[in-house]
Order: sequence, then structure tokens, then C-alpha cells
Amino acid sequence: MRTDLAGRAVLVTGAASGIGLACARAFLTEGARVGLVDREPPPVLEGDVVAVRADVTDEPGLAAAVDAVARQFGGLDVVVGCAGVSGPVGKPLAGTTAAEVAAVLAVNVTGQFLLVKHALPWLAEGGAVVLLGSDSAFTAAPGMAPYCASKGAVVALTRALAVELPGVRVNCVCPSVVDTPMARADLGAVLDSPAFPVQSADDVARQVLFLASPASRPVNGQALLADFGMSGRSAFPA
Ligand SMILES: NC(=O)c1ccc[n+]([C@@H]2O[C@H](COP(=O)([O-])OP(=O)(O)OC[C@H]3O[C@@H](n4cnc5c(N)ncnc54)[C@H](O)[C@@H]3O)[C@@H](O)[C@H]2O)c1
Repeated sequence: MRTDLAGRAVLVTGAASGIGLACARAFLTEGARVGLVDREPPPVLEGDVVAVRADVTDEPGLAAAVDAVARQFGGLDVVVGCAGVSGPVGKPLAGTTAAEVAAVLAVNVTGQFLLVKHALPWLAEGGAVVLLGSDSAFTAAPGMAPYCASKGAVVALTRALAVELPGVRVNCVCPSVVDTPMARADLGAVLDSPAFPVQSADDVARQVLFLASPASRPVNGQALLADFGMSGRSAFPA
């Protein structure tokens, strides 16, 4: 498949680790210019790269980071929001505090909102935004209520932005468990069990590339649920 991303100006948040880092590498492989935004320093990557430290919950800091990347590239064609946190995974509802819920929503929802808000003046006509949702927007495991709520909000935010922003496509990817430092910290060796399927950060990067490229030109406001069909099973006893 041709992605036609060579020379495109791409900004990726959460680019220092996991899915964001895989996306940055994938865009660079396609010949794109890539701005890496993260609160942590990213590894050194080969190619036309600019790295800016910012916390997506700090609006002035994030706005300055977006401006710095966009000025360097003379605008933006693609924005990918990968910065995210899982929050208090495995903690029962009774022990989960309002501050813990607010912290998850601040990064996973408000951070994505602020990213698009400040990227919008720089986004070219025909530009694309891809946000990281999760299968947790559609299916749930116990002890993940704040995270599930935040990812459900990303799906709704995606649809709302797609409707509100003419000329810019906005979609999100919603993968099941991905082998990244976040998932390793939450799940540990469970990730190595053959009992359930795990995808790689590179798998997700390919989904992001498709939604960022003109190859997905008619797709807008959608959530790409990539979960090996786990959510598709009916209760029908067959
Ligand atoms: N790993 C999974 O199983 C999985 C599944 C579905 C969706 N996701 C989503 O994918 C995205 C990336 O997750 P990952 O698994 O690669 O995690 P990760 O922890 O490997 O990477 C997340 C990156 O986001 C950055 N980040 C976190 N909070 C930030 C903030 N406030 N400001 C700036 N940067 C910040 C971190 O520094 C890190 O570099 C997240 O939105 C996550 O919810 C992950």
C-alpha cells in the first residue's frame, strides 16, 4: 500500500516510548519529517526529526511545543496523540480517589483535546489527526474504570472533532493489549502467556499510518477497534 507520507510534517505525542515511539519510527521509514513531543526525552532517531519536551496536561507548555515543531516544518500534515497513562489499574472502585480519576482524564482526554486545539492553526487542508483510544472504550476488565472512561471519551472526542473540523480528518485507533512499557508495568509476565493475543507497538503503528495517509481518505470520525475479534463474540450458545 502506498502511504504517500514522504516529506509530510508529522507531530507525535508520547513519542519517547511504546506506541508513540513505534509510530515515530514508522513515519520516518516512510520519509516523513517527525516532531517528537513527550514529557520524557525520546531516544535519538535517524532522519528529519525535532524533539520537544512537554507535558500534554500543561496547556502553555504543550502549545509552545506544537508551535516549535510546526515552525520547524512550516506547518503540520499529521498529528498523532499517543501520550497516555493507565492510572490505577487493578484497584477496586472503593479505593480509587477522585484525584486518580482526574489525573487519568487530564492526560488521556484533556491532553488529546489540547493537542488538537493547538495543532489546528497549523494543520494543512486535508490534514489528519489520529488519537490513541483503546479497546477499553468498548470492553472492560475489573479495576480499570478510570481508564475505560477516559478511552470511551476519546472515541466520542474523535467523532466530535471530525464533525467540527472541516478539511481535517480525525480518527482513533483502539487496540487491545499491546506489548509496551505501560502494559508490562501493569500486567508483567501475563503478556507472555499464550492464553490471550498481544499485539506489538509496530502493529499499532501500521494502523496509525493507514489512518494518517491519503489511503484512508474517506474514513473520518471513526474508531478502529483492533482486538483480534475478541469483542465480536455473541452470547448466543454456538
Ligand atoms: N499498551 C497497551 O496495551 C495499550 C492498549 C491500547 C491503547 N493504549 C494507548 O496507547 C497510548 C500509548 O501507550 P503505550 O502503551 O505506548 O505506553 P508507554 O507508557 O510505553 O508510552 C506512553 C508515553 O506517553 C508519555 N506521556 C505520559 N503522560 C504524558 C504527559 N502528561 N505528557 C507528555 N507525555 C506523556 C510517556 O512519557 C510515554 O513516553 C496510550 O494512550 C495508551 O492508553 C495502550
